Amino acid sequence: MASRKITEHIYWVGACDFDIKEFHGYQTPYGTTYNAYLIIDEKITLIDSVKSSFSKVLIDNISEVIDPSKIDYIVSNHVEPDHSGSIADVLKLAKNAKVYTCPNGEKGLKAYYHENWNFEVVTTGDTLNTGKYTFEFIQTPMVHWPDNMMAYLKEETMLFSNDAFGQHYASEERFDYEIGEKVTLERAKDYYANIVLPYGTQVKKIFTSLEGKDISMICPSHGVNIKEYITPLLSKYADWADNKTNENEAVIVYDTMWGATEIMAKEIAEDFESKGINTKIFSLKKHHISEVMYQLIEAKYICVGSSTLNKQMLPNVAAFLTYMKGLEPKGRTGMAFGSYGWGGNSIKYVHEFLESCKFEMLPSIKRVYMQP
Ligand code: FEO
Repeated sequence: MASRKITEHIYWVGACDFDIKEFHGYQTPYGTTYNAYLIIDEKITLIDSVKSSFSKVLIDNISEVIDPSKIDYIVSNHVEPDHSGSIADVLKLAKNAKVYTCPNGEKGLKAYYHENWNFEVVTTGDTLNTGKYTFEFIQTPMVHWPDNMMAYLKEETMLFSNDAFGQHYASEERFDYEIGEKVTLERAKDYYANIVLPYGTQVKKIFTSLEGKDISMICPSHGVNIKEYITPLLSKYADWADNKTNENEAVIVYDTMWGATEIMAKEIAEDFESKGINTKIFSLKKHHISEVMYQLIEAKYICVGSSTLNKQMLPNVAAFLTYMKGLEPKGRTGMAFGSYGWGGNSIKYVHEFLESCKFEMLPSIKRVYMQP
């Protein structure tokens, strides 16, 4: 996990975490990276840090390039601990370094670390000159916390975008062209579906802020740097921010007690298919809720099935609905279905839940238990 030169004067000095498989409910089967960047100029700048348990890796990687005590500026683009968790350790070595962050960043860093570091508070449009380089700051609140911001390095046309355009993907490769377009866009889509989806409005503001800026490389806080596939990734982000869905795509998600709701799921899928709508079915016994989010991000129809257990929906279905509602997919058409022996409350509850997500609803399908 060594440092890597990504341009003449800029190094990736972050950490790969192959072991992390879960981020607050989001399953990350490919692990992740915590990206930090070292910019060598008359004044030396570190952009972001890493999770505290990887502090030594960060310091070792910086030390491969320069003596860490020589760092003049630390840009903290995001307070979340996977990016700010090692700032304190860097400051133990670079005792006089100034910490550049936005007003919410300062508030958050003080609250988390109870330290009054040498802060320089910046807002959108403010700049930092380091010699031959100038960084321009762009606040991007709620992509993904109130404190998020980006730093645009004018002379290199590089965007240090933090959470936006990230991917949870641990690998030795540092560039999109090294892992290919398919994997890059797939991992970015998974990240968007499980983290950025509620913030479409704020993502659109990023596009406005970037108007007129050339971008030759995007350096997010997770995953590979985007150099080759900037255009397709920005185009996908615009679609996802718009909640653009495919009228010919349906996702059916269900859990079943004795197999009858599963039979219904397959029948509903056949019905969609017969109308020319591509349909994917996911059993929540076999697929994690975050995998289902990835699958449904571009689907117009979301059908959710549950047997009734103790007058309620099955727990897996309740977990999925709660998770999905928090991520706020918009402009969808929903449908509840399920079998029951008596009562059948689950279908009503699933219907009400989907309605509360502001989905347009198709009539529910409720069937008395049938022998599988
Ligand atoms: Fe990896 Fe919102 O941070």
